[in-house]
Amino acid sequence: MQSNEIRKRFLEFFEKRGHKIIPSSSLVPENDPSVLFNIAGMQPLMPYLLGKEHLEGKRLVNIQKCIRTIDLNDVGDNTHNTFFEMMGNWSLGDYFKEDAIKWSYEFLTDKKEGLGLDPKYLYITVFGGNGSIPRDMESVEIWKSLGVPEDRIYFKSSKSNWWSAGLNSPAGPSTEMFYDMSHSLGDINQIEFEKAEEEQKVVEIWNDVFMSYKQENGKVTGELPNKNVDTGAGLERITTIVQGKQSIYDTDIFIPFINSIKNHPGVKYNERSARILLDHARSSMFLLADRIVPSNKDQGYVLRRLIRRAIMQSRNLGLPSRFVSNAVIDFIDVYKNIYTEVNNPDILKKISEEEDKFQITLEQGLKEFEREIDPFILFTSYGFPIELTEELAKEKGKEINLEDFNKKMAEHQKLSQTAGAGMFKGGLADGGEETKKLHTATHLLNAALRQVLGNNIMQKGSNITAERLRFDFTHSQKMTDEEKKKVEDIVNDKISEKLPVSFVEMPKAEAEKIAIHSFNEKYGDMVKVYSIGDENTGYFSREFCGGPHVNNTGELGHFKILKEEAVSAGVRRIKAVLE
Ligand code: ALA
Repeated sequence: MQSNEIRKRFLEFFEKRGHKIIPSSSLVPENDPSVLFNIAGMQPLMPYLLGKEHLEGKRLVNIQKCIRTIDLNDVGDNTHNTFFEMMGNWSLGDYFKEDAIKWSYEFLTDKKEGLGLDPKYLYITVFGGNGSIPRDMESVEIWKSLGVPEDRIYFKSSKSNWWSAGLNSPAGPSTEMFYDMSHSLGDINQIEFEKAEEEQKVVEIWNDVFMSYKQENGKVTGELPNKNVDTGAGLERITTIVQGKQSIYDTDIFIPFINSIKNHPGVKYNERSARILLDHARSSMFLLADRIVPSNKDQGYVLRRLIRRAIMQSRNLGLPSRFVSNAVIDFIDVYKNIYTEVNNPDILKKISEEEDKFQITLEQGLKEFEREIDPFILFTSYGFPIELTEELAKEKGKEINLEDFNKKMAEHQKLSQTAGAGMFKGGLADGGEETKKLHTATHLLNAALRQVLGNNIMQKGSNITAERLRFDFTHSQKMTDEEKKKVEDIVNDKISEKLPVSFVEMPKAEAEKIAIHSFNEKYGDMVKVYSIGDENTGYFSREFCGGPHVNNTGELGHFKILKEEAVSAGVRRIKAVLE
C-alpha cells in the first residue's frame, strides 16, 4: 500500500464515521506565538479544544504538516524526520475513549477500510496515574475488549503518557500504540518492552490523547468545558510498518530519492548523509511553501540551517552543487497534488539563491579552514555555524577547541543576533555563587518577560558575569517603564515566594512538551529540565538548561533592571543585577 493510499484511507475511514475533513494549517502557528512551528496537529486546533465552537462541527479529521527541530540530531536514524505529516481524528466534546480507541484499533487492523496490520505485533501503553489523576483503567478495559492481551498493555508515567502542548495548554492522559518492527518480540514484560522501545524495535505509531484538563504554568488547574479527543499518527512511520520496512527512508516516500543518490555517477554513498540531505531538502521545501524565507532569525534561521546542512551532506556525498535544489524540484512534484501551496515558483528561486550564496561562503571559508581551524573566525567572517565547522573538522580528522569558541562567542558583541540562546552555557562565567544566582534570576526574568510581553518573546542570547546578567530576546519595541517595573515586580515576588529550584533529566521528546527550549542548542537524547516551583506551588518556569542553579529563589536577593536597549532590529537587551 502506497503512502497516498494510506492518506486517503485515513481520511475516508473517519469521514465515514461522521468526521469532517479539514485542511492542514500552515507550518507556522497562527494562534500560538510561543513556538516557531506546529509540532503537533493539536496546535492549530487549540482554541477549539479549549471550548470554541468549530464551524465544521464536533468531529474532525486532518493531516497536519509538522516540524520538530528538537529531533534534528536524531534525523538519519530509522524513525525521525524534521518535517512529518500527522494524521489525526478529533472529537470536540463528542465521543471519548471508547470510540477513539475502537476506531484506532479498527483502522490499524481492518483489511478492507484500514491498514490490515497484524494485531499480534501491537503493544499498548496507558496512563499510570499521578497524585491527583487516577490510572486509566477505562482505556485498559477497552483495549482488552478489542482482544489486546492484558500483558501487552503497560502503564506509563505522566512523562510519556500525558500530553500537552506546553505549560499553558489543554492536556490529558494518553494511550499509545506501538508496533513491533522486528516481528520477533512476542509476549514481553514491561522492562523488555521499554528496552525494545529504546532499541527502536517497537516504535510508537499512534497516540490517542483524552484531552479534558486545563494546564496552567505546567500544573493541572481544572477540567476543560469539553472532553476532547486528539489523536496523532505519523504518516511516515505508519507507512514504514505498512510497507514492512525498517526505516522511513525505505518507504515509497523516500526510496526513489535514496536510489537516485545511490545511482548518481561518482557518488560516495553514505546512508546517514543521504537521509539527512533528503529530510532537510523536504523540510526546506515545505517551509518555503509556507513563505518562510532564509534569514538569521526565528523560522528563517531554522530554514537557513536546514538548507546549509543539506548542502553540506550533498558535498559529503560528492554530489554536484545543485543537488539540493534538484531534490526540492522532485519533492514539489511528489506533493503538488496534496498541498497546493508547494506550487510556487518562489520556492525554487529562493532555494537556488541560498544555495549559491552558501557555495560562495563555503569556498571562502574552506580556504580559511585549510589554513587554521578557528571556529570563531569561521563564524564571524564566513558565517559558518559551529556545527558545520565541527562536521568539517570531523571529516578531516581534526580537533576543534569548543571551549575556546564558546568563550570568544560570549565576549562577542554580536552574539545576540545570530548565535542565539544555544550559547547560554558558553556565556556563563565559571561557577561562582554569584553567577549561579544570576543564572537562576535569568530564568525568572525569561518567564516574567513572557508574562508581561507575551509568549512570543524568544531568548536570543545570555551572558553572565559575577556582577550582572545580560539577556537578549526578540521584541519589536522598547519596553515601557511600566513594563520594566512589572517584570521586576514579578521576579521579586517569585524571589520572596522562596520557590524551590530543581531539575529532572528526561528524554528530550518528553521535555519538549513541558519546557522552553532553544532550537539551536544541540541536545542529547536525555536533557535536563530546570524547574522553578513544583507541583505544589505550580511551575513558574521550566527550561532546558545545563545548570548550575541555586536551590531556592529565596537566596537571590533583590532583582533590578539596570538597562533595556536595542541590540539589533527586533532584538532587545536587558542588563540586570541582584542587590
Ligand atoms: N498531540 C498528540 C501528539 O502529538 C496526539 O502525540
